[in-house]
Amino acid sequence: STRRITVIPGDGIGPSIIESAIAIMDKAGCGFEYDFANAGLAALESDGSLLPEKSLQLIEQNGIALKGPLTTPVGTGFTSINVSMRKHFDLYANLRPVRSFVGTKARYEDVDIITVRENTEGMYSGVGQKRSEDGTSAEAMSVITRDGAERIVKFAYELARREGRKKVTAVHKANIMKSTSGLFLEVAREIAKQYPDIESEEMIVDAACMNLVMYPERFDVMVTTNLFGDILSDLCAGLVGGLGMAPGANIGERAAIFEAVHGSAPDIAGQDIANPTSVILASIQMLEYLGMEDKAANILNAVKDVIASGDRTTRDLGGTAGTKEFTQAILDRL
Ligand code: NAI
Ligand code: MG
Repeated sequence: STRRITVIPGDGIGPSIIESAIAIMDKAGCGFEYDFANAGLAALESDGSLLPEKSLQLIEQNGIALKGPLTTPVGTGFTSINVSMRKHFDLYANLRPVRSFVGTKARYEDVDIITVRENTEGMYSGVGQKRSEDGTSAEAMSVITRDGAERIVKFAYELARREGRKKVTAVHKANIMKSTSGLFLEVAREIAKQYPDIESEEMIVDAACMNLVMYPERFDVMVTTNLFGDILSDLCAGLVGGLGMAPGANIGERAAIFEAVHGSAPDIAGQDIANPTSVILASIQMLEYLGMEDKAANILNAVKDVIASGDRTTRDLGGTAGTKEFTQAILDRL
């Protein structure tokens, strides 16, 4: 039977880059049917809710979604829609791969790193947020559970094994945050023993930042807690040419949502200049997740060729083409 994918075009540049990804998957012969769902500002306008129940149902039903960036309105009373979705489906693993592409303006040529970020706990758990009445102090709680740490570290090692990767680096700050990061590191050490075939390494987060910038080729899979993973994965995006090159998958037991790491880029929306590569790379992650490695490889090679040849790429990549022209170049390659 035909595989159905829930598609959330999103806000700002979202609809245009999602359109690119779909055209490319179709051209590559993926044979998907799509169920379109609304979320974000678009949904607030059409349905009166940032995250309509029927959109959640469509994700639940297909178990898989490709999602454009969403604008969360600034102001009180709006929790981030992305955080809400991660919580709703317990999407505990956030996978953010970056790799060097020939032909970008990146400073490095041999980067191939996957950040595996815990997506539900830590500093982003949203627990215990308060401000003192006189406004002079504020606090929030960071919660790490043994179960939460175990499942993300295992996820990272299983991924490493499946993809034939050599090393997993656990990134932490256990020397200072002794309770929370301490528990994470303790669990990482325990799990590491179960994977003697894979090299295990541990690194304090500040040292990791320096080493990533100086020696990015030394990294392979990184596993870490929520806040560190958020920051480190943007750093990694910077190693390979910026946000236009960085996809992310949010994976749980019941559902998986694939997206670009960047936001809705309202400053360039509607101008046909956005780089669709992040969302295309997210669709490649989705194909790999679905076991369609051959299609994933075909699309990846086409994207690589177009970026390497350099004449029909978007401005952030150093070219002069628009979103549509760049997409057409990839379609032509396919
Ligand atoms: P942003 O990622 O949208 O933009 C940052 C800068 O990068 C802008 O100058 C933008 O033009 C550029 N940029 C981003 N994607 C690009 C692309 N594909 N091609 C070329 N240039 C690109 O971050 P910003 O401006 O802080 O946030 C805008 C909105 O996006 C906010 O409402 C925010 O809440 C939302 N957002 C949503 C995310 C999601 O749905 N996953 C993630 C991050 C932000
Ligand atoms: Mg982020």
